[in-house]
Amino acid sequence: MTRPSDLVVARTRAELATARNALEGPVGVVMTMGALHAGHARLIEEARRRAASVLVTIFLNPLQFGPNEDLARYPRTLDDDLRLAREHGADVVFAPGPDVVYPDGDPGVRVAAGPLGAVLEGASRPGHFDGVLTVVNKLFHLTRADLAFFGQKDAQQLLLVRRMVRDLDVPVEVVAVPTVREEDGLAMSSRNRYLTPFDREVALVLQRALRAGEAAAPEGPSAVRRAARDVLVAEPAARVDYLALVDPHDLADVREHHQGEALLAVAARVGSTRLIDNVPLVVGRPVG
Ligand code: PAF
Repeated sequence: MTRPSDLVVARTRAELATARNALEGPVGVVMTMGALHAGHARLIEEARRRAASVLVTIFLNPLQFGPNEDLARYPRTLDDDLRLAREHGADVVFAPGPDVVYPDGDPGVRVAAGPLGAVLEGASRPGHFDGVLTVVNKLFHLTRADLAFFGQKDAQQLLLVRRMVRDLDVPVEVVAVPTVREEDGLAMSSRNRYLTPFDREVALVLQRALRAGEAAAPEGPSAVRRAARDVLVAEPAARVDYLALVDPHDLADVREHHQGEALLAVAARVGSTRLIDNVPLVVGRPVG
């Protein structure tokens, strides 16, 4: 166990248990895969505001990456991550290796995300959410957190974590934190580091498409989809994976006469980087 200033860094289960026992409750957890940025800082700050103690986990979870995905090149920046975690108010960072989290290798028993995990991101990344929920569940047990903070940017992940907590009676309160954006609107992501200057410009199309959809929201679902799609097709350098207008509670496509809450979500490949973003909307004009 090491201590850069007042931050406790635990690498093993035993070190985590010792550090956790010394924390005052309620304990808030922010789970990350490292390469921390302003979005993570916001999660840590929110945890600081809501909980007496803040525990950050940094674990690059191999289980949630497909065979052709970016696990090998995912940025590993532990020293910078510890600095950011400390500056924004973390008390403990748990940064285990895969052998600590999965001592017997790949787990034979996993959490199944079910149908909600098979659409949108799950359709493009089979098994991804089983991997996410399995590690999130393990980290809930290991950290024994009272509150857990997740970003709205990964809206499907947030929904599935909430569903798991309810379906499996996990004793934790899940808190959603709004997406943090760069000044020009690009959603913060650890993967933004892969973008070349050209890609970085192209990537802004996601945010422009979401804004166009948002502006069309009073006219109803078709107008939202059309407005967002028109923006995306005008930028051929972004290869769109999906653009979806869905019910935020079950991720089902919203129907033409739907009025009320919806989630406009987009995923696209820009250069070699896959990016996602979303915006919550209220669609349709209220009757009367
Ligand atoms: O959102 C992430 O960074 C990951 O999916 C999480 C929740 C840390 C699980 O590995």
